[in-house]
Amino acid sequence: MEHCQVNEDEAVAVVTDVKSNREHVAASFAAAQDIGAEVFEVQIPEYGRNSVGAEVSAGQGGSLRLPRGPVEACKSADMVFDFTLEGFIHVPERGEIRDAGTRILRVGAREPFVLRRLMPWEPEEARAVKEKVQAHRDLLESADEMRVTSEYGTDVTMEVSPETAFDSYGFVDEPGKWDVWGQNMVSNYPTNVNGTVVIAAGDYNVVPFSDYIDSSIECVVEDGFIEEINGDGGDAELMRGHMESYNDRDVFATSHFGWGLNENGTFYNMAIKDRKPDETGVSASEGRVWEGNMLWSTGPNTHQDRYTNCHYDIAQKNCSVYLDGEPVVLEGDLVE
Ligand SMILES: [Fe+2]
Repeated sequence: MEHCQVNEDEAVAVVTDVKSNREHVAASFAAAQDIGAEVFEVQIPEYGRNSVGAEVSAGQGGSLRLPRGPVEACKSADMVFDFTLEGFIHVPERGEIRDAGTRILRVGAREPFVLRRLMPWEPEEARAVKEKVQAHRDLLESADEMRVTSEYGTDVTMEVSPETAFDSYGFVDEPGKWDVWGQNMVSNYPTNVNGTVVIAAGDYNVVPFSDYIDSSIECVVEDGFIEEINGDGGDAELMRGHMESYNDRDVFATSHFGWGLNENGTFYNMAIKDRKPDETGVSASEGRVWEGNMLWSTGPNTHQDRYTNCHYDIAQKNCSVYLDGEPVVLEGDLVE
């Protein structure tokens, strides 16, 4: 809350579902009251309804819809903590709350010791993290073209959308900012995405599977849509079958592309602590933010009013990311 500049003149809303970690709620109340801020909790159903009225269950990667009352309650607060397991991320309500000037920090229900490791603790550390992430955002924002390659066969090129470039430094200290606890990364929702992305063995499917890939998957992307999912192993079959089950072409659209910047994250820690999305939610995940990863995704894109219920976040190792031909990540290592 100190990193987020919560003060005694503010109101803090805590948004939960029935599975949210009650220790986090209690800690939030205690911290807000220590600071002298108002604090209240809004509990919403863990199942929402999507834009076409179908029921959406948890674990879809941030597609939780908020009912009207809670939206108004959040807009009346200065700061919102999102402790729901699913998260309201790729939904119009998030935009509405941010437009009211309310800042939102997504936390989920990760274990406290996982959260502790990902977040900078001292104010100086927080400032350094913010500066580093914003420097990378500046690089991304000023580029026209982003290209990703890897030794496994990835070679995909896209047009950067500077107005969608975002810096995620893991806390929210400005009106209307949204972020995820400890999430250090930059990303954008590019256009004209063309090429091949090979998800290699050992890469990590952050959502919806919270699992490592065993057999490589080749995604052929044309004009921002995955047109082919190839691969001999079960992982390609699983991804193809799951995506096709939605009967929705938008599921195959590409969404955000970026790279991770959290030096406390590693690509292997999820094997121990991040395999239970139904219990811990789908955020504050190292799998999204370990330094030097290449994180890309599929499905929803609020910038294009595309709200589909299937969202893949895939974090890849050993990729190189080039902005207008200049590397920012080389074979999985940040270029200083
Ligand atoms: Fe995502």
